[in-house]
Amino acid sequence: MNVHESEKIAGMLTELGYQSCSAVEEADIIVFNTCCIRDTAEKHILGNIGDVKHLKKENPFLIVAVVGCMTQQKGMSENLKKKFPFVSIVLGTDNLSDLTLAVRQIEEKNKKFFSCIHDTPDVDVQKDSPLYRTSGTNAWVNIMYGCNNFCTYCIVPYVRGRERSRSPQAVLSEVSDLLKQGYPEITLLGQNVDSYSYEGHDFTYLLEKIAEMDSKFRLRFMTSHPKDFNSRVIDVIASCPNICNNIHLPVQSGSNRVLKLMNRHYTRERYLEIIDEIRSKIPNVGITSDIMTGFPTETDEDFYDTVSLMEKVRFSNAFTFVYSPRKGTVAAQMEQLPKKVKQERITELVKIQNRISAEISKDYLGRTEEILVEDVSPKHQNSVCGRTESGRLVTFAGAPELVGKFVNVKIDSARSSALFGRII
Ligand code: 5AD
Ligand code: SF4
Repeated sequence: MNVHESEKIAGMLTELGYQSCSAVEEADIIVFNTCCIRDTAEKHILGNIGDVKHLKKENPFLIVAVVGCMTQQKGMSENLKKKFPFVSIVLGTDNLSDLTLAVRQIEEKNKKFFSCIHDTPDVDVQKDSPLYRTSGTNAWVNIMYGCNNFCTYCIVPYVRGRERSRSPQAVLSEVSDLLKQGYPEITLLGQNVDSYSYEGHDFTYLLEKIAEMDSKFRLRFMTSHPKDFNSRVIDVIASCPNICNNIHLPVQSGSNRVLKLMNRHYTRERYLEIIDEIRSKIPNVGITSDIMTGFPTETDEDFYDTVSLMEKVRFSNAFTFVYSPRKGTVAAQMEQLPKKVKQERITELVKIQNRISAEISKDYLGRTEEILVEDVSPKHQNSVCGRTESGRLVTFAGAPELVGKFVNVKIDSARSSALFGRII
């Protein structure tokens, strides 16, 4: 989501005549696209903003902007103004498209520009912005904005507002243009894509319409919510060859007690039932997840419920997080666990997932997989890398001209979750 928003920022700056540069010291404008989902992300960005203060002294015409969901927190834009007086633009998530106007105003009148929307809008205030796509072979497409779920640990509904779905016409025409431009992979984006709804059209309508647009390309989507991920979605994925057999389905916890406190609206049993249905209908599916530990009041027993769920499901990959209290959320007011306990538990989760990922990698040995070549390998000479349909990264010998093409690769070796092979 943030990467795609950065593409919108780069698109607006390019239209204004700016070009990207490789060193921050050379920049005439610096835009910090922030995230506040965890405390670490927020601390990191505040440190980074402080670090450019000296550049403003050296170049008084330098424009420093802070945008994105961190600015949407109550009191944050005032704090930013006080703490970083050299920042001249602050914009929230729903008025990112004002960046063009803000930069022009500063260039012409040298005026500061602050505008954040703290009362979350219930209408679609996102405007189409020019895009400067940076994600290579993959093109991101928003299908909806915001979230209605209010998981008790999460700040997203407060900073990104209520759910707003884009019209199918807007989504389909953007995807159709991208396919015409030759993008071999499209990823649909939303905080909860399964609850997409626009004048009677649901997510499966979009999936089917997009999947039939072209004969050969990959369609991915994220993120799904287990409470809304239903048999219809599974059936459509199973029946459309263009939709990848790769599903990101965040479970967060394996304990029913914690899931209830998190306001997730499903049980461990229901989650496992969905996994069984996915596996029975979609062969060789790669299932990935987000898993959290250290939620307030999480006991050893709750934690081991999460561990046992991981062992049962065997995610091909998982993003593991330590719970981070976010001001204004329900869970932030609950009794917090000691840091040491959280640290011990996350270390164990990471170890378990690494072992499972490595074991799953071994299942790929000897198989021939269709790979979409995404890039030249950053680590291996004369090699390229790309993904299996199920989402696994594979590195193999090949020329840069292969980027964007589909090739068949025989998997010869595996190192942890990384796979290596050769084109056949
Ligand atoms: N602390 C830690 N992780 C969080 N996530 C969301 N909010 C928090 C928080 N307060 C994680 C969830 C979500 C992913 C995008 O970030 O696992 O699925
Ligand atoms: Fe946050 Fe829950 Fe919405 Fe995901 S579904 S963005 S975790 S509130």
